[in-house]
Amino acid sequence: GLQAWLRYAPLPAGHNAPALPSSIIALNSSASSPVNTAGQELQKGIQGIFGKTLRVSSTGKATSAAAVVGTVSQFQKAFGNSPVTDALSLEEDGFWLNVQGSTVQILGQNERGALYGAFEYLSMLAQGNFSDVQYATNPAAPVRWINSWDNMDGSITRGFGGNSIFFANGGVLSNLTRAAEYARLLSSIRINAAVVNDVNANFTTINPENIQGVGRIADVFRPYGVQLGLSLDFASPMELGNLSTYDPLDDGVIAFWDDITQQIYDRIPDFAGYLVKADSEGKFFVSPSAMLNSTEFNLGTPGPLVYNRTLAQGANLFAQAIKPFGGIVMYRAFVYNQLPDEAIWTADRANAAVDFFQPLDGQFDDNVIVQIKYGPIDFQVREPASPLFANLLETNTALELQVAQEYLGQQTHLVYLPPLWRTILDFDLRVQNQSSFVRDVITGERFKRPLGGSAAVVNVGLNDTWLGSHLAMSNLYAYGRLAWDWTSDSEEILQDWTRLTFGLDETVIDTITQMSMASWPAYENYSGNLGEQTLNDILYTHFGPNPQTLDNTPWGQWTRADHTSIGMDRTVSNGTGFSGQYPPEVAAMFEDIETTPDNLLLWFHHVNYTQKLKSGKTVIQHFYDAHYEGAETAHQFVGMWESLKGKIDDERFEDVLYRQVFQAGHSIVWRDAIVNFYNNISGIPDDAGRVGHH
Ligand code: GCU
Repeated sequence: GLQAWLRYAPLPAGHNAPALPSSIIALNSSASSPVNTAGQELQKGIQGIFGKTLRVSSTGKATSAAAVVGTVSQFQKAFGNSPVTDALSLEEDGFWLNVQGSTVQILGQNERGALYGAFEYLSMLAQGNFSDVQYATNPAAPVRWINSWDNMDGSITRGFGGNSIFFANGGVLSNLTRAAEYARLLSSIRINAAVVNDVNANFTTINPENIQGVGRIADVFRPYGVQLGLSLDFASPMELGNLSTYDPLDDGVIAFWDDITQQIYDRIPDFAGYLVKADSEGKFFVSPSAMLNSTEFNLGTPGPLVYNRTLAQGANLFAQAIKPFGGIVMYRAFVYNQLPDEAIWTADRANAAVDFFQPLDGQFDDNVIVQIKYGPIDFQVREPASPLFANLLETNTALELQVAQEYLGQQTHLVYLPPLWRTILDFDLRVQNQSSFVRDVITGERFKRPLGGSAAVVNVGLNDTWLGSHLAMSNLYAYGRLAWDWTSDSEEILQDWTRLTFGLDETVIDTITQMSMASWPAYENYSGNLGEQTLNDILYTHFGPNPQTLDNTPWGQWTRADHTSIGMDRTVSNGTGFSGQYPPEVAAMFEDIETTPDNLLLWFHHVNYTQKLKSGKTVIQHFYDAHYEGAETAHQFVGMWESLKGKIDDERFEDVLYRQVFQAGHSIVWRDAIVNFYNNISGIPDDAGRVGHH
């Protein structure tokens, strides 16, 4: 339900209440203060879990048996003494948590950090963990953002959980209760900013009326320490400002963006920054006005390339406008030209990001972060880490993940994503032959960058489950946990989420763990093997099998499947050259079919269906077997879930069951569509005799 993992459900019998504080001192009582929110949240949580109502005040003695929450400096001011040194050396958004029985100290480096600490303490209590603890914790990176893809008309791009909680009919909703509740969820997982409108932005978002409207969203976010960000439409100077150009070097355009930025900060002094999708998914380079007036199916988004300016010049336009206010610019690397002709063996959409951005390394202003999707194509079930992470040594970078399961079953299939994300984060790019994990690149650590972090596309809507699926919420929860600490264990995160969401029953925890941990491998098995991408319908829905839509379309998500062979040859020696975008050690691994892991074989190599894998199977037999195995696993989820009847409230039990039954059925549709497709195209029978006519 709406409370998601913040239910504060009473603990089951057998969990004796610990020594609890007898009062709460929250060192700031102003309504918009996260410290004030922390006090109220502590009260609400302890009330829910233990049925005990504590008094909250903003002053008092830091006696034993009190829970004190505030910033380090508020603490010093209130009590005249310094907390321990660990608390004094916190970084931005970090907190110090000290629980000694009924004496609790929660101190943030800033107010947001104090609120994070309060949620952490409540998360322990709600999980029945009453240990004494004493530690400081700091975020891996300063940017821990959410990107909503909500449109001004209230629809959500790739939204599967109802309409927008922010917008309707071209404006901001008058009732922002859900937006406030969302901010509460986000702050509990330490997300510090949310962009509320779609990357395919509409210029009307920043008209005077809507700036006031999004200002109201920022107002309901503020008590939770969540800052507001906005996506921009690069062509706004022409559409909204009535200028004849949107050239980033034009004085009128510069003045336009300075003015817009001023208007935004007048209303929202703590505005986080801009997100820019420019020159994306386009048919380059049509004229500026043609970009706006054409009704042709997806012409791409306007950007600096339309004026022969560089992407860095485009990004710096906004960076300079926003710098005086301390804001940042997230500039997306999802820039590629539509590729009309698959007949060209060396054409490859995967090359685009490095081709466009690497030459600009060092030209982006310091408050620009280049936001890079995890793989070179588009949130597929299996991709290698984007090589762009290894090619920007003098540029801030951030990782873009997608909680929205656009190609991954759209929240009707259970797919727990952290294990997929970890294949990217834990990938060692070996830049300059040194350890260069993606997780250390995006935090800024590897290349000593001042800024960095991550953004996740999240498609929550008005549905009571937020995402349209109870189980899908583990992905949102896990994103926040990982963005704080990219080395956190996927399974431990999942189990924390499960306890908070469904309670402490061991069978429930074990079952949801088994299902979730098996879910991404199962989905990969029936939707796209060996790095050939996800064989969804590419043209419209991105849902359900449609393998024939990958090839012979301008979208460049090709598999090059013919009667004898399959796969993209991305080698330097004979293919698109993509493997050469990685540093030498990694390039050498992917260049050679022998050292390319099976799960990326078809990403990097074009082979016969009879090619032997390291497993000893042929490619085609692997296809057949994997699809049967994946569908079989999806069927097991139904029985596993059914075994939890009575251990979970009926409403959520039935809701999840419905989805698992759907997934089981749909996995058969996937299985049969794909095995038959490859059986038809290759004419090679299945060793086990399951596929084709006999
Ligand atoms: C995907 C998605 C689009 C989205 C795009 C993006 O291609 O299908 O709806 O606009 O990604 O990330 O910009």
